[in-house]
Amino acid sequence: MSKFSKERRFSLHGQWSSHLAFILAVSGSAVGLGNIWKFPYIAGVNGGGAFVLVYLVCVFVIGLPIMMSEILMGRRGRRNPVATMALLGQEEGGTSRWGIVGVVGVATGFFILSYYSVIAGWAVAYIFEGASGAFKGADAQQVEQLFSRISGNWFITGFWHTAFMALTIFVVARGVKGGLERAVRILMPALIGLLLLLLIYSMIAGDFARGFAFLFEPKFSELTGSGVLEALGHAFFTLSVGMGAVMAYGAYLPAESSIGKTSIAVVVADTLIAIVAGLVIFPIVFANGLDPAAGPGLIFQSLPLAFGQLPGGSFVAAVFFLLLSFAAWTSAISLMEPAVAWLMERQKLLRSVAAIVIGGLIWLLGFLTVFSNSVLSGFTFFQGTFFDNIDFVASNIALPVGGLAIVVFAGWFMSSSSTSEELDPDAGLGYQLWRFSARFIAPVAVVCIFLNAVGVF
Ligand code: PFF
Repeated sequence: MSKFSKERRFSLHGQWSSHLAFILAVSGSAVGLGNIWKFPYIAGVNGGGAFVLVYLVCVFVIGLPIMMSEILMGRRGRRNPVATMALLGQEEGGTSRWGIVGVVGVATGFFILSYYSVIAGWAVAYIFEGASGAFKGADAQQVEQLFSRISGNWFITGFWHTAFMALTIFVVARGVKGGLERAVRILMPALIGLLLLLLIYSMIAGDFARGFAFLFEPKFSELTGSGVLEALGHAFFTLSVGMGAVMAYGAYLPAESSIGKTSIAVVVADTLIAIVAGLVIFPIVFANGLDPAAGPGLIFQSLPLAFGQLPGGSFVAAVFFLLLSFAAWTSAISLMEPAVAWLMERQKLLRSVAAIVIGGLIWLLGFLTVFSNSVLSGFTFFQGTFFDNIDFVASNIALPVGGLAIVVFAGWFMSSSSTSEELDPDAGLGYQLWRFSARFIAPVAVVCIFLNAVGVF
């Protein structure tokens, strides 16, 4: 529990109404397109099993201690991530230069949201496609055509990207507590319910054995150094760690809440949802002769195929994509929160003004992704299109580097009396485990994965 009274017991931006609200908000941030859109598609591109295994190890061994570090630092600093890092840097590490970690985080959120919103826009468009019966009886070729008709048209994709950003700005401008807390409480359980229903469908109608084997049979020969880096990057992405989003939310956490239990609950829930999404999608992919390595369009093709065969499928499809859009929405809000809190505190701006300024810039940047799937799809460099490059640099480089800095700070620069005070309810073995991971396991693992990816081993 934080020893700070008055000023540091509360954030400048208010506080979650309860511990449960905080768990829901962090889960809302963690569970999003990363679980349902990105995890299956990158597992598909990287050959399945071995990739999934590395991802799971990264989530629990690296992601979990980093999540705990972010929350404890956020709560101790009670400011936006830039100011928190600078303040704690001053108090614990002797220099406010640590603020730079927060600045990189704010920028990373900026870049991630720019393409996240475009993909979320597709999900929103698919609510209407589903409701209008476009998936009814469609075969593999028809769903592919439908997807390229939307993603390949910059105007349609740009339109839905604009709509999604407007919704995100709207919530962030109103303050996170009002609408968001209530929304996640209903929407997350509904999303899980629908995913489980789809799981039953894929068990009956899909090639479940093959889908299962694809996800869980590790074929290490298919795993490359860059695949391992991708698994690491995704572990950060899916847990929302490495850029200060969870740190920003931690700043609004009541002093009494247990950080360890909260983090474990979020990490387990996030992982289960990704695995279930994989078990829904791959059996359908294999039963219909789709390509598991189809890339970012994977769920926008496999799921409509499944829905198209279901009685009442149009309605279920619309509801599913609605929930997916909501899951994306709660994540998008957390991608924007660090930048908005920072701008508000720095320039003494109203929350609404800061949200519009930051959101407007992200919206503009998003057009790079919009065009890279349509008019500029032939323009590729380094990792591929603009979208591929922004995603690669933000997820696979910036998040792990940010997470490394955060965990090194918490493990090596913060005194054990400060960290144990924050993690107090989990003291004892739990605390020792966290500290050992934060000091040794997580940093060494991240560095090794980087060295491996550039071919040192
Ligand atoms: N965790 C979100 C997802 O899996 O969709 C994405 C995300 C949100 C990443 C917030 C990073 C972040 F700070």
